[in-house]
Amino acid sequence: MTTTVPAFELFSPQATDHQGGALPDGGIAVGSDGYAVLSYQLSTEVLRNPRFANSALRLMEEFGINDGSVHGFRARSIIMQDGAQQLRLRTPLARFMGPATVQNTRDVLTDIVTGIFNDLDNKPVDFHAGVDRRIPSLVYCHLAGAPQSDAPKVQELSERTLALLARDPSLKPDILAAYDELFRYLNDLMERKRGLGLGDDMLSHLMTLADEGKLTAQELFDEATSMLEASSVNTGHQIGLVVWNLLRNREVWEQIVADPIWIPAAVVEALRLYPRTGVISKIATEDMEVGGITIPAGADVHVAVWSANRDPERFENPGDFVLGRERNQPLTFSTGPHNCLGQGLAKVEIEEVVSHLARQYPQASVVESESAISQTAGRWTIKKLTVDLGPRS
Ligand code: HEM
Repeated sequence: MTTTVPAFELFSPQATDHQGGALPDGGIAVGSDGYAVLSYQLSTEVLRNPRFANSALRLMEEFGINDGSVHGFRARSIIMQDGAQQLRLRTPLARFMGPATVQNTRDVLTDIVTGIFNDLDNKPVDFHAGVDRRIPSLVYCHLAGAPQSDAPKVQELSERTLALLARDPSLKPDILAAYDELFRYLNDLMERKRGLGLGDDMLSHLMTLADEGKLTAQELFDEATSMLEASSVNTGHQIGLVVWNLLRNREVWEQIVADPIWIPAAVVEALRLYPRTGVISKIATEDMEVGGITIPAGADVHVAVWSANRDPERFENPGDFVLGRERNQPLTFSTGPHNCLGQGLAKVEIEEVVSHLARQYPQASVVESESAISQTAGRWTIKKLTVDLGPRS
């Protein structure tokens, strides 16, 4: 068994100079923050193995959040569970988030997207503030059966709670305050729903399961919290990243405008090249062997999705945008037991925005001088995205 592990500082600014895939010495490396998994094959192996647990709780503890309601929620939440408890929490959500809900949401999205674009004028628009950040929380409100007027609150709570992933301990007081507000908001929303009578939305579905004794009151609350925190921030950035990528790739854009059947394939390819979740961090729960290297129990293991998605062993010409790429299965939404429960929804949101732009604003373009897109610690982020919509067709 190999004992020398190549060195790699995954969270250094130079890390993304690496073009993707394994290093010459292998698909896994080590640095001051733990192990970095760089190849597609080993990334898939780690993500599919339940003996690698999510590191979200450890991240909180590193911030000094060691007890209290926020720590308790994170410890019980679906992302931290394994085996029977994870299935118990995942099955009701997975059933609800199936194809019928995704299709129903697509219909509602057409109105949401049209409404948002009707609010814009045709001069260059602040796409991040005016479009991509606004859509996911409106979709969440529809999904959860909350009034659309709650959307700005949902967007703010999702952004402030998931700020944890920015790995900046100075954010701790605001993160704690944001979870407190989120808990209060959800309690209030569920009370309002009880008052009005339960419907066929996600929250009503979970509340009904709790009434039937299939979920405890605590599990219901934790499920609702997990869905709200995950609902908006990543999807907003990812919508912007895909639009930014497609509008700058004029050959592909014109193909989409000419034939919208290409939109789903184009979205997946853009998700591969610019994944919002650049790194998925796990912890080895026991001594594990990955790629011929023994990882000790308790070690941090960071899956570099941005590198796996550009692995030349898995994707031919990985840096090129290839419309119609075969077997295109990037790891942007993870894989294995914890793969993203909102991925169907997120993809539909992105597709509907792209489809609206292609139909109504075929000449739209990115104003480069007023856009700032960055990759920090592996995560792609829209700082500013300005789009000149051009004439409406
Ligand atoms: C483009 C947007 C999104 C991205 C890139 C994304 C990414 C991810 C990733 C990478 C994971 C897995 C983490 C792991 O393996 O440990 C995950 C899990 C999850 N996501 Fe998403 N997500 C997005 C949108 C959403 C939305 C819209 C929702 C819900 C409305 C959602 C709900 C969840 C939940 C509940 C889990 C935990 C699943 C489990 O632990 O079994 N996500 N997401």
